[in-house]
Amino acid sequence: MSEQIRVGLDERSYTIHVGSRLLERTGALVAQFAHGLVPVVTDRHVAQFHLEPVAASLRAAGLNPEPIVLEPGEGTKRFAELERLLDTLLDSGLDREGFIVALGGGVIGDIAGFAAAVLKRGISWAQVPTTLLAQVDSSVGGKTAINTRQGKNLVGVFHQPRIVIADIDVLRTLPRRELLSGYAEIAKYGALGDAEFFAWLEVCANAALAGGAEKRLYMVARSCRMKAEIVGRDERESGERALLNLGHTFAHALEAATGYSDRLLHGEAVAIGMVLAFRLSAELGLAPASDCERLKRHLSAVSLPVGLADVPGERPDAETLIGHMMQDKKAKDGKLTFILARGLGRAFIAPDVPIGAVRAVLTA
Ligand code: NAD
Ligand code: GLY
Repeated sequence: MSEQIRVGLDERSYTIHVGSRLLERTGALVAQFAHGLVPVVTDRHVAQFHLEPVAASLRAAGLNPEPIVLEPGEGTKRFAELERLLDTLLDSGLDREGFIVALGGGVIGDIAGFAAAVLKRGISWAQVPTTLLAQVDSSVGGKTAINTRQGKNLVGVFHQPRIVIADIDVLRTLPRRELLSGYAEIAKYGALGDAEFFAWLEVCANAALAGGAEKRLYMVARSCRMKAEIVGRDERESGERALLNLGHTFAHALEAATGYSDRLLHGEAVAIGMVLAFRLSAELGLAPASDCERLKRHLSAVSLPVGLADVPGERPDAETLIGHMMQDKKAKDGKLTFILARGLGRAFIAPDVPIGAVRAVLTA
């Protein structure tokens, strides 16, 4: 049971494989791109469950896997770790024709992809995403990055993988909270550009999240298809790709205000951010308030947070959040750029949103 989705980017085009029992086919799937030594960059949690099947399948394809196991967590996406990773890769003797496998969530994909992009001016790599977030979002589209003391993802490049292998079976070992956090990005695709998918999710998301393989495959593949189409039209985010940031201006401010900690996972912040973006759209008379309520009801139904009051601990203060938004890369001349919506499935880029309206939504 699997599906293939093409990301059409001329000579950088690649296929996303989504399905069951794909880890054991990793070797066969990457054999056309790799030879000899294949470093497999992963993290300790993922290695515990999923490294061996990947290594065995690479060996079976005549390749020589070399695991490089990093510490789990956002803290790994930093210069010191990148330097260490590059050192290890260079010491391993990887040449200009070398090939890396990134096996893990968005953290591993982002740092391993960045390493692949700069090593010997760019080598080929595969994304084998193991979180729901990575399967539907970060493994597709070629964004790679690390964080700096100034903020998240501030140093990075675009470097498309040669193949993406998203095995939905690996999600069985993912903690429930991480699964739900990744689900927020799936709901985002419906909310931003596909009302029919959103309606499907309203009916089927809980069954898919509970483990129903067919529904899970459908929702992951449909999300990947949507991202692949958008990336195919706007790889470098000069326009339409920005729609994928629905809810993210609020979310980044919330993540900054909660110290990028376990208090609020990225997808949880995105869930709250999307509701706020729809509320802002309704405040500005752009979208029906009933669509905001519908989005909120759905996210609540899958047990995601939907408002500032759902953030554990002290409620984030509106002025602090606005301060973070003004520092965000999307703030220009005191005006804020938001992804707003004219309704479910109808997002657009709004470059001049008045701060007063944002404040009203945050203090409501
Ligand atoms: P993550 O990579 O930190 O993974 C979350 C946790 O789950 C980690 O503890 C990890 O070890 C564990 N884990 C991963 N797969 C597992 C599995 N199958 N079973 C058990 N445990 C597993 O987090 P994430 O949410 O996948 O990614 C977040 C990162 O992605 C952020 O750094 C964000 O900036 C980045 N991101 C990048 C893009 C992009 O386009 N490049 C898009 C969105 C997010
Ligand atoms: N996660 C947003 C993007 O890839 O553009």
